[in-house]
Amino acid sequence: MNFDQDKLIDMALAARSNAYTPYSKFKVGASILLKDGTYITGCNVENSSYGLCICAERNALFQMIAKGYTKEDAVAFCIVGQTDEPISPCGACRQVMEELLKPNTPVVLTNLERKVKVMTVAELLPYSFSGDSLK
Ligand code: THU
Repeated sequence: MNFDQDKLIDMALAARSNAYTPYSKFKVGASILLKDGTYITGCNVENSSYGLCICAERNALFQMIAKGYTKEDAVAFCIVGQTDEPISPCGACRQVMEELLKPNTPVVLTNLERKVKVMTVAELLPYSFSGDSLK
């Protein structure tokens, strides 16, 4: 499905501006475009108890579920951070993408210069552990 990549990046950048990062100062934004045209966004939210920090990607994906959407509704996912190259999402978030998005969902990785690398969820986490592994 075609989507407006610039708008998706704009939404992730807007979410990034809300990031709560008193410890790392590293702000990340994420956005999800849904089939009904809705955008769901998330930012990283840190905590003085460091292990409780949540990444922008999981914040957005969990909100998608909380609002009643499923992986079938997601058209594209976007992540932005201040990195030299398009941001590389952490392993935990890749696992959550595997759970909550379809394998062929495009993930737009970008940075503040809007340098873009598009990968699918399956490309980001090959040979993954999944719900199928439990059957
Ligand atoms: N972070 C994200 O939000 N997403 C990533 O993919 C990598 C890391 C956050 C977690 C923490 O708040 C900060 O960036 C530094 O690791």
